[in-house]
Amino acid sequence: MFFKSKKLLGLDIGSTSIKIAELDLSRGRATLQSFIMAPMPQMALGTGEIVDLTSVGSILQKVFREIKSKRTSVSVGMWGTSVLVKRISVPRVEKKLIMEQLKFEAEQHIPFDINNVTLGYHPLPFTSSADTMDLLLIASQNEVMRQYMQVVESAGQKCQIIDVSGFALANIFELNYGKIPNEVVAVFNIGAQITNFVAIQNGEIIFCRDVPVGSATYNSELSKNFGLTYQEAESLKLSSAKGQEVPEGVSQTIAQVNDQIIEEIRNSIDFLSVTNQGLKLSKAWFTGGGSLAPGLLDKMSQSFEIRTEILNPFRRVSIGRKMNMSYLQQVAPFVSISMGLGLRQVSDS
Ligand SMILES: Nc1ncnc2c1ncn2[C@@H]1O[C@H](COP(=O)(O)OP(=O)(O)OP(=O)(O)O)[C@@H](O)[C@H]1O
Ligand SMILES: [Mg+2]
Repeated sequence: MFFKSKKLLGLDIGSTSIKIAELDLSRGRATLQSFIMAPMPQMALGTGEIVDLTSVGSILQKVFREIKSKRTSVSVGMWGTSVLVKRISVPRVEKKLIMEQLKFEAEQHIPFDINNVTLGYHPLPFTSSADTMDLLLIASQNEVMRQYMQVVESAGQKCQIIDVSGFALANIFELNYGKIPNEVVAVFNIGAQITNFVAIQNGEIIFCRDVPVGSATYNSELSKNFGLTYQEAESLKLSSAKGQEVPEGVSQTIAQVNDQIIEEIRNSIDFLSVTNQGLKLSKAWFTGGGSLAPGLLDKMSQSFEIRTEILNPFRRVSIGRKMNMSYLQQVAPFVSISMGLGLRQVSDS
């Protein structure tokens, strides 16, 4: 008798590239078997929603062929404006009635039409009063979920799980660093359009937000200040990150964008603190292509006065025999979300 494989591919559709990770899990140990990254055409994606379904579908078809996996289903991450995660307090009810209660409460908490979203929740480990429950309300836009399913199906795979990208980030963090006791830590994945920010207390997610800031801002500012195309600005940014010589003024523009990004992230950290009784972060881990921008992380650790570290997504992950180690070192800043998604199993909901 044959059983269909229950293993999934982790799929992270980002605005500059698509990433796919294939992991095996056995006795609590994860092994990364494959990872593929493919560039996305500019403007194919908005801040989460898919603008050009045909292009994204054909890129997916190519990467699924290239990864040569026997798996036929994916776990995909939603991010940006297509999903909202918000802490709310609702009257305490039995677990089986929580969804009903949420439908009733959600309207006042979310800016979208309630009929156009799918609701979910993530329980929080604390509560503000005995009569209420605190939880993270998750509202995903149906239209964007349909787009994700459509492109994945057009490439011959099934969308088995649609997760929140920030939760996948917390998953890969916990796998590599475990539960950090008695501290509140943060993980930031700085992308091109968005920075996924998740805060974790004693191993539990307590906050998750996509900050609308990322590495594309360097490109737009460099384009504006030096009359360059987006691609030219990208090359200039990468040259500067490699320490190569760049025209006068480029470093100043990059430093100004560093300050803008830091300011946006600071606002979100302040929001976390204000909505959680003045809670303080003790440490932050960073990943994502945007974290490679020249001077950004150094400035960040000075400005926030918290310990910072670069996230090592392979810290407690075995590496499959097919993988090339120097390629893995190169792609380490880009793999986290797809790996976190790849840890999900069909039996998960
Ligand atoms: N070596 C580098 N130095 C500086 N920036 C880099 C480097 N490599 C990549 N980047 C930048 O990182 C960004 C891509 O990172 P990433 O793949 O994490 O984003 P994404 O997932 O496509 O974006 P988003 O999730 O916001 O849609 C690009 O803006 C790119 O310019
Ligand atoms: Mg991304």
